[in-house]
Amino acid sequence: MTTNRTFTMIKPDAVADGNSGAIIKMIEEAGFRIVALKKIQLTKERAGQFYAVHSERPFYDGLTTYMSSGPIIPMILEKENAVADFRKLIGATNPAQAEDGTIRKLYAKSIEANAIHGSDSDENSKIEGDFFFAGIEQY
Ligand code: TYD
Repeated sequence: MTTNRTFTMIKPDAVADGNSGAIIKMIEEAGFRIVALKKIQLTKERAGQFYAVHSERPFYDGLTTYMSSGPIIPMILEKENAVADFRKLIGATNPAQAEDGTIRKLYAKSIEANAIHGSDSDENSKIEGDFFFAGIEQY
């Protein structure tokens, strides 16, 4: 296995509920190194750009409204097998189907307000990290 990177965001519901500290603790205890981290709020337009791949889906408008409704915490993370291991740590998209002990099982409210994002491939983790962080921040 090679050391690689993934991208995540703690979403508005989890930040607003004061769960970001607990979630970051779970991420670090699972062996991920935080490469880059900040707290920002997206406009609906910027959220739409991030989720452009879903622009034809029925949930797109609700998703982009939700994702711009409050601050989020984007991060770049590093670990062996980062993308797959992080998807395992966060659990299924729909918290009703997420396994016990996963971040979404513990903190997600619904399929839309599901607490956290995790990239689904090495290629997307690079694109998504570059969306939020300049090269000088990715050390
Ligand atoms: P997706 O990429 O399918 O899931 P994941 O975040 O687990 O990679 O969908 C992106 C986000 O879109 C998802 O985290 C929440 C939202 N979403 C909905 O609001 N409703 C839905 O039916 C789906 C599939 C996703």
